[in-house]
Formats: sequence, C-alpha cells, structure tokens
Amino acid sequence: MNRAKKLPIILLIFFIPQFCISLDTITINQPIADGDIIVSAGETFALGFFSPGKSSYRYLGIRYNKISEKPVVWIANRDIPISDTSGVLSINSHGNLALNSRNRAAPLWFTSVSALPTNNCVAQLLDSGNLVLFHSRSVIWQSFEYPTNTMLPNLKLGLDRRTGLNRFLTSWKSSDDPGAGNFSHRINPEGSPQLFLYEGQVPKWRAGHWNGIRWSGMPRMKRGLIFNVSFVNNENEISIEWGVANGSILTRLVVNESGSVQLLTWHEDQGRWDEFWFAPKDQCDNYGICGSNGNCVLNDDEFDCTCLPGYRPKSPQKWYLKDESDGCVRKNQTALCRNGEGFVEVANVKAPDASVARVLANLDLKACKDECLRNCSCTAYASLGVTEGSGCLTWYGDLLDTRVFIEGGQSLYMRVDALELAQYANKQKHLLAKKWILLIVILSIAAAVSSVLLFSHWLVRRRRRLSQNAQPQMFIYSSSAHPDDPPREKELDRSRSRSHLPFFDIDTLVAATHNFSNKLGEGGFGSVYKGQLSNGQEIAVKRLSKQSGQGIQEFRNEVQLISKLQHRNLVRLFGCCIHKEDRMLIYEYLPNKSLDYFIFDKTRKQLLDWRKRFEIIFGIARGVLYLHQDSRLKIIHRDLKAGNILLDVAMEPKISDFGMAKLFGKDQIEANTKRVVGTYGYMSPEYAMDGLYSVKSDVFSYGVLMLEIISGRKNTEYDEESPYLNLIGNVWELWREGKGLDIVDYSLLEHSYPCQEILRCIQIGLLCIQEHPADRPTMLEVVFMLGNETSLPSPKKPAFVFLNQSRPESLITRGDVCSINDVTVTMIEGR
Ligand SMILES: *[C@@H]1O[C@H](CO)[C@@H](O)[C@H](O)[C@H]1NC(C)=O
Ligand SMILES: *[C@@H]1O[C@H](CO)[C@@H](O)[C@H](O)[C@H]1NC(C)=O
Ligand SMILES: *[C@@H]1O[C@H](CO)[C@@H](O)[C@H](O)[C@H]1NC(C)=O
Ligand SMILES: *[C@@H]1O[C@H](CO)[C@@H](O)[C@H](O)[C@H]1NC(C)=O
Ligand SMILES: *[C@@H]1O[C@H](CO)[C@@H](O)[C@H](O)[C@H]1NC(C)=O
Ligand SMILES: *[C@@H]1O[C@H](CO)[C@@H](O)[C@H](O)[C@H]1NC(C)=O
Repeated sequence: MNRAKKLPIILLIFFIPQFCISLDTITINQPIADGDIIVSAGETFALGFFSPGKSSYRYLGIRYNKISEKPVVWIANRDIPISDTSGVLSINSHGNLALNSRNRAAPLWFTSVSALPTNNCVAQLLDSGNLVLFHSRSVIWQSFEYPTNTMLPNLKLGLDRRTGLNRFLTSWKSSDDPGAGNFSHRINPEGSPQLFLYEGQVPKWRAGHWNGIRWSGMPRMKRGLIFNVSFVNNENEISIEWGVANGSILTRLVVNESGSVQLLTWHEDQGRWDEFWFAPKDQCDNYGICGSNGNCVLNDDEFDCTCLPGYRPKSPQKWYLKDESDGCVRKNQTALCRNGEGFVEVANVKAPDASVARVLANLDLKACKDECLRNCSCTAYASLGVTEGSGCLTWYGDLLDTRVFIEGGQSLYMRVDALELAQYANKQKHLLAKKWILLIVILSIAAAVSSVLLFSHWLVRRRRRLSQNAQPQMFIYSSSAHPDDPPREKELDRSRSRSHLPFFDIDTLVAATHNFSNKLGEGGFGSVYKGQLSNGQEIAVKRLSKQSGQGIQEFRNEVQLISKLQHRNLVRLFGCCIHKEDRMLIYEYLPNKSLDYFIFDKTRKQLLDWRKRFEIIFGIARGVLYLHQDSRLKIIHRDLKAGNILLDVAMEPKISDFGMAKLFGKDQIEANTKRVVGTYGYMSPEYAMDGLYSVKSDVFSYGVLMLEIISGRKNTEYDEESPYLNLIGNVWELWREGKGLDIVDYSLLEHSYPCQEILRCIQIGLLCIQEHPADRPTMLEVVFMLGNETSLPSPKKPAFVFLNQSRPESLITRGDVCSINDVTVTMIEGR
C-alpha cells in the first residue's frame, strides 16, 4: 500500500464506499472471513482470524503485521472461541460490527451501538492498532475503548465518568487461551485515583497516586524522550494514556498471564521484543506485604518490615519470625489528641494506599499539616503533587502498602505523641552531625589524596614512631605496679577529634525506657533499665548512682574511650547521657540474663554442660585479658562476679560493667582509697582489707568465679557438710586430700566429662585465688594455661578460706552502703 495515495482513498470511502476496495476497511459489502486480513495503512497492524499458542480455536483479533514477531494486541471474542474456520466479521444491517459463525444463529460478538442508517458505516483499522467504526465520519465505536490485555500508545485506560465505563486490561488465562484471566490492571478512582494490578479483587501491586508528573510509586518514571504519559482527572474522566515521541518505535504494555505488567519495545535490528520496564519488581512491590502501618525496606535482595513511627508490631513473635502480615498497631493511642503530639517525616517513601485518603486539592503542605493536626483521627498526611502547594492527602486510619525507595519517593508525615516527637527530633540532630562528619571525612580524604608526597612522608614518620612506641608499651603493660595509668593525652586528643560519640539525649532515653519503668536490676553502681530505641535496637540503660565525684568532661572522655573497646566477650557500650546530676550509660541489651541466673539454679544449670562451661570460663578470661592489656586502656574491672557476666543467645559470655572502675576511679585509685567497690566473696584480701587493687585483684575474682562455674555453687553459700568453710575453703580442703573432683557440679556428673581438664581448671582457679597477689598468675598466663596443656605450679593456700572469720566484718559495718552478699557493696570511708 502506498502511503501517499492513502488519504484520497479514505476520503472517497465516506462518499462512495461501494466503489472502493480498501485494504484497511470493512464495509457493508466487504466483510472479512477466516483467511482474509485487513492491514492498516502503515502496515503496522493487521486484523484477522488466528489461533493462539497450541490452541486450535479461532479468534478474531488485531496483531502486529510487518515485524517478524507478531503478538496479538486485541481480541473480539476472547471468551467465545470459534471451533472451526467459518467465522465472518461484517457490518450488519443495524450498522454494527458483528462476528458470526456457521454454528451459531446469534453473533459471537458485536458492537452494541446503534447507527442507522447503515450505508454510511465503515470500520477501519488505524495504524495505531485501533479498529474504529465510523458513522458519517464520526467515531461511534473503537476497539481502544475495549482493551483486552494490551495497552498501546494513545489508548486510554480509566473511568469515563459520563458513561461509567472503566477501561482496564485483563490478562489472558494462558498463552493458549486468551480468555479473561485473573489479573487486571486498572485505575481505582476512589480517594486519589491510583493505578493498580489486581489478582481477582485483591490488589497485587499499586503504582500509587498521580503526583502531577508520575505515579507516586514509580519514582524512576520520567517524562522521557520516548514516552510522554498524561493523566487526566476532571468531571468527564479519570484516565491515563501515553504517547510515543517517535512513532516508528513500537511499544506495548501487557498484563501477562503470570501477573506482571510489562512494557515492551520492538528492536528491529535484534528482531525481538525487549522488556523496557515491568512490575511488580521486588518484594516490597507486593501490595501490603508488611501489613497495616508497616513499612517495607529493601536491603539488597531481602526485604525488611518496620513499623511506621508511632506504631509497634502487633504480634512481635510472628514479626520476629518474618511473618509480618499482622502489621503494626499504635504504640499509645491516648496521647495523640491535643497532647503535644506532632508529625515525624518519613522520607523517600511510596505514600500509603490513597484510596482511603482524603484529597484536599488546594492546600499547601503547611495547611495540610494544620488540617491533619486539627482532626484527632488523622494519622498521617503527605503532599499530593511533587511541588509545594500542589495539594494534600490526609489519612484517617490504618496505612497500607507503604515502602521505602532508595531514591525518589516522597515524604510522609506521621502523627506521633510528644515523647516520640522528641525522640525523632533528637535523631535528626545526630543525623546532621553525621553529615558534618561525612563532609569532614571527605575533605580530609581529598586533602590526603591531593598531596601524595606529604602522605608518604607522614607514613614513613608514623612507622618510625610506632616502632619506637612498641617497646615502652609492652613495658607498661607487663608491669602491674601502677594499676591505673591515666589515659594518655594523645589518645584523648584523638578521640576528641573524631568525637561522633553517642551522646544520648535524655528525651530519647525517657522514650526508650518508658520513663525508666522497666527495671532490670540494681547494683552498687546504680540501677539498670531496659529500653528500646526507635530503630528497634534494644538497650540496657544504667543510671549511675551519684557519688562518682568526676567532672562532666572527665566522664565524657572516659565514656568515649571505653565505648571504643570492642571485644566479643565484652558487652557493647553504645554511649552515655549526662542530664543535670544524672549520668547514664547505654549498653546493648542481652536477653539471656546473667551467668548467676543459670549457674546457681538447680534446673537451669543443666543447660550448661562442661563444654559450655569451659567455653564460658575461657571467654571470660579472654575478656578480662583484653581489659587488662589488649585494649588501648588498661582497665581493672574490680567487680567481676557471676552477676556481671551476661550471656548472649549463643551462651557466649560478655562481661558487663567493665568501665565502672574507670568511671568511678579517680579518687579511689590513690593509696588512701575512700570507697571500696566490689562484691563480697569475690574481693581479694588486699583489696577488701587495704583498698589496694591491681590486675591481680581481678585475677582473684576470676578464680572465684571459675570455681563457682565448676561447682555450680556460690562462694558465700553455706554447705551442710562443711559448715565452717566457704566454697574456696571447701575446694582447697578437697584438693589437698586429692579429691578435687568432689566439688564438681552434680549436674555435670550425669554426662561423661573430661576429668583431667576439670582438675586442671580447678587447679588454675586455685592459683588465681592465692593469698599473695604476686603468687597469682596474670590474665595472660591464665589464658595460656587454659589453652595449653603445660604443667601447672602447685597452688598455695587461698585467702578467705573460712566462712565467718574471713568475712571482713569491720569493713562492712563501717560502710555507708551495705547490701546483701550477692550485691555489689559500696563502702564509703572504708578505711
Ligand atoms: C484464577 O484463580 C482461581 C482461584 O484462585 C483459580 O482457581 C484459577 O485456576 C485461576 N485461573 C488462572 C487462569 O490462573
Ligand atoms: C506526547 O507528546 C506529543 C508531542 O509533544 C503530543 O502531541 C502528544 O499529545 C503527547 N501524548 C500524550 C499522550 O501526552
Ligand atoms: C525515529 O526512530 C527511528 C528508528 O529508531 C529513527 O530512524 C528515526 O530517526 C527517529 N526519528 C526521530 C524524529 O527521532
Ligand atoms: C510476565 O512478565 C514477567 C516480568 O517480566 C516475566 O518474568 C514472566 O516470565 C512473564 N510471564 C509470561 C507468561 O510471559
Ligand atoms: C500513653 O500516654 C499517656 C499519656 O502520655 C501515658 O499516661 C501512658 O502511660 C502511656 N501509655 C503507655 C503504655 O506508654
Ligand atoms: C475527622 O475526619 C474524619 C474522617 O474524615 C471525619 O469523619 C470526622 O468527622 C472528622 N472529625 C472532625 C472533628 O473534624
């Protein structure tokens, strides 16, 4: 067909159709039968009968024509196939297009528009793929109004408000059956109109509301070189349509049989259809995957559900098991109405399902906020358009199908109570600080790179300096003469310069701990509370008792240094908070409680077999060694005891309270220690009696702890069989009689256990609790002895063998604070 000749021919058709035979039209006298086709003017599309896939049924449809792969874009009789080749499409006596076959009296399919008189009727296949029925040159019917599974350029989807017709795409049943399948792609006109993919009546994917430029859930959709999408929402229609800038590019959008929306383009040189875009793409695209009020976050290939601000998981147990379908519920409903509540911004999201939102088209964001604030049942608001002042969306109940985008998306503002508001405000501050640090880091990197010479020079000098440092450091660490070297100035300076140290705001902690309502325990250093940060991180907050006597700056510096200590056998310190007189330390929270909870309990101790106990013994030793000499600081714990050893989920020991000695140190380090901090039963004699402490006092406590772990008994516990002896005395007596294994925990006897290894551990324990500090091994030696089968020295008599006599009565009665045996004893004016 020659395009140049086309126009006059079409014009002729309208006036004298009887005389003209055109390849792209159907007239009253010119029906098409199975085997015939009509081809559009540009030969892009053809109309005719075909059998899809392996099917033998015949369907009337439109398909691509001149390219090598010819997918079907429209079907007249998708649900009523013709079983033979007798189909005929014609214009009937009422001016309608009708599809008939030999076996049926009634037409299989027809256009139900009335168009008498008929002699002016003509159907034409346009080069856009649209089959149009004209009556006196006006369009009375077109296949674009009745799409099947394919959307072509300039085909409109959506609601025609005048006729009530909602045009949408429906998938095929299978590649062999073009009948209407389960998936549909349509505009939901409720609330703010949104584009959806449904499976049956259930939403499967949501492209979001139209924000003036694109669907809000498709942040990467651009008014590109190839496509221009237009959305119309007026009193006549809600519709979406797209055009192609260059008409010679073939594109189609399909809802395919497996429930995906695909946008495909034809590549002539490769001879195939390429997928340009498709949805749903990732797990977060699945509608409502995180339940109501949840927010889906994609990490690499995994997805995570979080709760939107102000909400918590409805069933934490299921949530933990990654079944988030129950979604989230309000944390606290009571404080949301005229109670200082406000809004928290969640950035880069796909705004929640807007079919339940209220649209206020003319409000700007500020007015939107006021509007939402005014109505106490308003849960969230967001901007309708991409630009400020382009309208407002407000939600009044549960929020569905929110997700986070890596880039793009919009801000959602969530109603939260005053507490949470403060908490988020604080987080913003930290974020800002982080940004500054990032900037500084970038600048320093730039500076470093820009002067390679200087850098290498510095490197050489640094190496030299390090090698000079190595000797003295070893010297310092190997001597236990001065127990508490002040942190070296350089270290302080360095830590100050990169001080992104977690200083928590009091509001954050009040919110996280529900105003310090969940107390985990109490000790000589203060009380411990459980809490949870807004990011879900569980924390333990230690509120220090007030007599530390340290200045604020000193305290900060110490926390800063201590928080840098990281070891698998130390509880992680996240940071601190200083609020007026209050000082608080924020630790990671470990759910498994402390060692004493297990080891001294008849049933729970059975969870710890010998292997596990040995690992715990070893782990504690490594942790203490790190404190004594492997870390940049030298820390003497001073309160090692079963209650200060926490166990993580894998029952790995983590020493807690390790910074206390330093934080409370200063005026207690001097020879004339005013306060003795420690726990009766674990205190070395020189410390308990004379207030002298060194790494060897920790070794003593460690020895006691080790024997407790082996025997499953408290050192201070009374035992009927040896009423005068404490555990230490008991072990010592039995050891001397060659019956060391008698002290081993009964619950260990049920399983076979390596006697030699246990005896060895008892011996190491006894070495640690010898009376004279100089006789006790260092922690390094302890770790070595535990890990190697070397011969061990014979232990000398331990300190505090007897229960009553050994108790340093004088100390305790003179102390200001004194508590039961098990708890840390703090004694002021101890001497
Ligand atoms: C459509 O859904 C129904 C019910 O879930 C199912 O039985 C049927 O097999 C589905 N049809 C197709 C073509 O997948
Ligand atoms: C696409 O852009 C062209 C030219 O700018 C315009 O003529 C056409 O109407 C647009 N199509 C749509 C669907 O917006
Ligand atoms: C349209 O696309 C065709 C094929 O890709 C190309 O040859 C032609 O130059 C394009 N025309 C315009 C106006 O961009
Ligand atoms: C439907 O589209 C998805 C997304 O591109 C694709 O993975 C799937 O294979 C397609 N299914 C069919 C039947 O073509
Ligand atoms: C909820 O907020 C109210 C008012 O601030 C407060 O009294 C109440 O204790 C809170 N409830 C919970 C569970 O946090
Ligand atoms: C708040 O909004 C809801 C939902 O739109 C509405 O039903 C209710 O009347 C409003 N309440 C007030 C006090 O405006």
